[in-house]
Amino acid sequence: MGEQNEGFNSTKQILKLNEGEKTKVRGWIYRKRDLADNIFIVVRDSEGIIQTVLPRKNAPQDLVSLAEKSTIESSVVIEGIVKNDERAPGGKELQIENLSIIGLSDDFPIKGGESIDYLLDIRHLWLRSRKLTSIMKIRQSVLEGLREYFKKNNWWEVNPPILTQSAVEGGATLFEVNFFNKKAYLSQSAQFYLEVMIFSLEKVWAITPSFRAEKSRTRRHLYEYYHLEGEAAWMGMKDMMNHVEGLIKSAIKKVLEDRLEDLEIVKRDTNILENSLKTNFPEITYDEAILKLKNKGINIKWGDDIGADEEKVLTEYFDTPFFLTMFPKHLKSFYMKIDDSRPDVVLGFDLEAPEGYGEVVGGSQREDSYEKLYKRIVEEGYNPSDYQWYLDLRKYGTVPHSGYGLGVDRLVTWIAGLDHIRDSIPFPRFRERIYP
Ligand code: 4AD
Ligand code: MG
Repeated sequence: MGEQNEGFNSTKQILKLNEGEKTKVRGWIYRKRDLADNIFIVVRDSEGIIQTVLPRKNAPQDLVSLAEKSTIESSVVIEGIVKNDERAPGGKELQIENLSIIGLSDDFPIKGGESIDYLLDIRHLWLRSRKLTSIMKIRQSVLEGLREYFKKNNWWEVNPPILTQSAVEGGATLFEVNFFNKKAYLSQSAQFYLEVMIFSLEKVWAITPSFRAEKSRTRRHLYEYYHLEGEAAWMGMKDMMNHVEGLIKSAIKKVLEDRLEDLEIVKRDTNILENSLKTNFPEITYDEAILKLKNKGINIKWGDDIGADEEKVLTEYFDTPFFLTMFPKHLKSFYMKIDDSRPDVVLGFDLEAPEGYGEVVGGSQREDSYEKLYKRIVEEGYNPSDYQWYLDLRKYGTVPHSGYGLGVDRLVTWIAGLDHIRDSIPFPRFRERIYP
């Protein structure tokens, strides 16, 4: 049996009813205009908005006073008759016959035009806005599109831990936790756990919160973010890049199929999304990227890091996501496999989103030789005994394999065309504010 709606119609369903039909709607008061002849009450629910109207003439006095008393964000149940009206959003309105206030709202502290800081302090109320509601729906469709792709290609979903013992991405951004008087860390990446799991399940993926104590405060960094990671046995770097391209396209496709209305509410130009589905994502190597950056007058040389600012410049060359590959070894993590023909370069790849967004995915082929991995751990100044279980994987039936991490929040930020990552997630964590 499905869920019962107790005779209610949603705001969206009402737009499909015929003039003269009687119905009930429940939701929150989104807008209100108290005029001489009519009281207009726009009601919102999870699906949208519907205008309701109470003509003062002939209406019972207690109904009029209730409508007058109702405030923005009060929760209400309204019964009424459907009327066609071109001026109403969606072309229909409900003429009020009965109104109950379920929860009268105090004066709502958001009226429009407030500062970002003010709004972040009342995030728990700001999340009711139409814009954030649409973004949350886009986020769900992104996740659905990603999940469908794994399902279609027979990957296994696993659930790695968040409390961990060792760093995957280096000590600088680790959050330390007191774990019964021993040091533990919040996970930066589930990669090493996924690498364990490929020896039984071959192709595995996970979504886990990851934590980064980033020094810089930017539009694309969160301290806690949703990290989707994949790892597969028998796949080389190129195989994994193909998989990532399919995965990202699946998310874009799902959003274009299911969320056009929400993309419109967030004012997203969908051309670039549609375009991205039609073309193969181009690849440029790090070497080529350095040349391109020099051509744009950037002061950079081989071996320098390509950071957010440089990525932004590179995105000017592309109007779809593109791969950046084959990085200098010293810029990347110790687990990346070194290229056979160039000992200073690793088989790493990043996927960059266009329009200035930059890195959304980071991945690589993994070093699968025990000796080479051991050497890299020592070179980087780590203690091999901290990584013994990770090294073991190269000792008992090692296998060529590759993997990646995708920043879900960054992907949502790009697909929805947001100017800051904080709005891609309901409760962003900031250094100054771990609230609500
Ligand atoms: O490039 P990163 O650091 O790679 C790893 O953690 C690998 N161990 C993943 C793997 O191969 N399994 O992070 C992967 C992605 C980045 O491309 C970015 O999209 C996202 O995670 N990311 C962040 N997103 C939001 N806020 C942050 N502070 C982020 N740091 C990384
Ligand atoms: Mg990276």
